[in-house]
Amino acid sequence: MNIGEFNAAIMKYIYNIISYGIKLLKVKGLPSFGSFKVALADVLTVTTVLQLATFFEYPPVIIEELGTAASAGLLMIRYMEERGQIQPTSILTLLSALKKMCLSGTGDRVKKLYEEHTGRLCSSDGQSKAQNEEGDPGYGKSTLTLQAAYDWCLGNVALPLKTVAVFILLPLRLLGNISSIFEAIRLVLMPPESPLTDDDILEILRHSLSVVIVLDGYDEYPDRNSVKETDVMKMIAGKMFPNVKVVVSTRSSSLPTYLHSTTVTIRLTGFDEKSRDEYIKRTVTGGDQEASRRITNALNSSPILNDICQVPMFCVLFAHVANDQRGVIEFSSVTSFFKYVIDCFYSHMWRERS
Ligand SMILES: Nc1ncnc2c1ncn2[C@@H]1O[C@H](COP(=O)(O)OP(=O)(O)OP(=O)(O)O)[C@@H](O)[C@H]1O
Ligand SMILES: [Mg+2]
Repeated sequence: MNIGEFNAAIMKYIYNIISYGIKLLKVKGLPSFGSFKVALADVLTVTTVLQLATFFEYPPVIIEELGTAASAGLLMIRYMEERGQIQPTSILTLLSALKKMCLSGTGDRVKKLYEEHTGRLCSSDGQSKAQNEEGDPGYGKSTLTLQAAYDWCLGNVALPLKTVAVFILLPLRLLGNISSIFEAIRLVLMPPESPLTDDDILEILRHSLSVVIVLDGYDEYPDRNSVKETDVMKMIAGKMFPNVKVVVSTRSSSLPTYLHSTTVTIRLTGFDEKSRDEYIKRTVTGGDQEASRRITNALNSSPILNDICQVPMFCVLFAHVANDQRGVIEFSSVTSFFKYVIDCFYSHMWRERS
């Protein structure tokens, strides 16, 4: 499958999910906080309940009642709900209490149950709704976002996106002069004949319990210096859709100046030796140990080549080119490597044209 077909497949899938989402909202209703409470009751043992009640400074009479109740867990849940310590939209008070009581194992189980039953993500620090992913050119920002979209489409249950109901990936370079996020979603993700209106999309974004919107390539966003605030800017600043998790990727030289104060920043720093070798083994040589050794030896024999191959794009380029050279790998310098690559591009271009 080439990248065009891959993108088209993702878009079709997302379109189907969104259409299905509407039906789900209309027919079945929202995922259930009620079923989470039932599952939570099983996790809360009498000992945990009594520790929690003491931590929350419940009156002695309630603590006594909890100690003798037939189902201490269910009763505790009722008291926590009455006091706002657990709510359909957040259980952070409970999670933070469990952490402070050194019951992190229980906390992890409760968090997992909440996410599974309600479809809502709860970040462990309880604050961040935004994530900024920065890195220099060719360090893999767009690759990471595409991989995330692909994993989400496959519904890989071992990955953190498994509880995300709606995942939207928007390449910002396509969104010049488009100030509405609804128009952007329609333009990038939907076929022209789609019957979905702005209101339909708004309904999905408002009511789906966990939505992730990835804005890829802020440095390439044509309106980033515009005086008129676009929806993209509002989302990055945390002013729009507070329930949506927003991930922005950008080159380090073009960080948005108006990031929300709770934004978590992740910096991509390239391939270390281990990930480089793993990439060569898994993707380039298909496990052929002799071929992998030849490529890594060639890399290691030139300190400068080795250095530039920390950039994933160059590493990928070098590894594939070196793998094609079946005999001795002859790149003793960076110049000879790039000369070879440019020769390849040229002959490819002429072949395409003829
Ligand atoms: N983790 C990775 N695994 C395999 N290949 C990668 C990885 N990261 C990057 N690459 C390769 O490097 C190329 C460039 O990566 P990508 O386009 O993701 O960089 P970028 O950080 O988005 O750059 P830019 O700032 O120019 O947008 C990809 O097409 C891919 O071939
Ligand atoms: Mg990119």
